[in-house]
Amino acid sequence: MDDHAALRLRDVVVRRHGHDGAPLLLLDRVDWTVRAGEQWVVLGPNGAGKSTLLRLAAGGMQPSSGSVHVLGARVGRVDLRDLRERIGIVDAATARALRPSLTGHEVALTGIFGSVALQRRRLRPVHDERVRRALRLVGAESLADRRFEDASQGERQRLLLARALVGRGGDGPELLLLDEPAAGLDLPSRERLVGALAVSAAARPDLPTVTVTHHLEEIPPTTTHALLLRAGRVVDAGPVAATLRSDPVGACFGLPVDVARTSGRWRAQVSVDAWHLLDGAG
Ligand SMILES: Nc1ncnc2c1ncn2[C@@H]1O[C@H](COP(=O)(O)OP(=O)(O)OP(=O)(O)O)[C@@H](O)[C@H]1O
Ligand SMILES: [Mg+2]
Repeated sequence: MDDHAALRLRDVVVRRHGHDGAPLLLLDRVDWTVRAGEQWVVLGPNGAGKSTLLRLAAGGMQPSSGSVHVLGARVGRVDLRDLRERIGIVDAATARALRPSLTGHEVALTGIFGSVALQRRRLRPVHDERVRRALRLVGAESLADRRFEDASQGERQRLLLARALVGRGGDGPELLLLDEPAAGLDLPSRERLVGALAVSAAARPDLPTVTVTHHLEEIPPTTTHALLLRAGRVVDAGPVAATLRSDPVGACFGLPVDVARTSGRWRAQVSVDAWHLLDGAG
């Protein structure tokens, strides 16, 4: 079964050195498997290692020890370009690397080959049709001609999601990785994005997805699993019913937290009598 996992991390350690030369463990003995049909959310305080985990999952870096398998191949022994074309990714680094003068349509087109450049010579009319479908899916049809630099933050995030969803093949990507897709969005934009994520999950229920977020309110209702990370270690991981609860989420953030789920959506808050603990938390 595990051989068919979209993502498999075994005993993964990522080690770096701080400015004083002291060793830093960005990830510490992480075991994690993501299978088809699973939609994961990754939660954890700033610096917990969430983006590092996503970079590993995208094949963009190798662990110091342990193994990472992505879409059946071991990272380090697979052509990264091929992998990139099979993975849809939304993250700040991609957003920064895209040419600001690209139109919304062109931004989504770059997703066909998973690069930030357009690769015009490889593009075919069928790719334009696929882009139009992806823009429609995330409610960004009206942004097709808008320059990326002119788009609002929320519009940009929707374009990046469309870009991540187009994929090389007719069926779109085989793995979707989203690092804080709702960062910086106001309430209507966030809700539109969460709605777009839910719509895309309904359109491709088999598509394994990992969404990193800071706010439980941003978790799409279609989410099936959660991984809680603290200081590079997995605090808890598993189906959302067991994981997105007050105790594990509180342990993850080092605070007493009340987690509630209403109408399929989650929210978390620190109770007033624990506010005095906030200064030392995180
Ligand atoms: N090359 C590096 N050398 C040293 N430390 C690094 C390096 N890259 C990342 N780090 C540190 O590793 C930790 C984890 O970083 P990461 O970006 O994965 O955290 P994160 O959970 O995504 O945080 P945030 O919520 O703020 O985005 C941070 O403390 C970061 O400063
Ligand atoms: Mg991060």
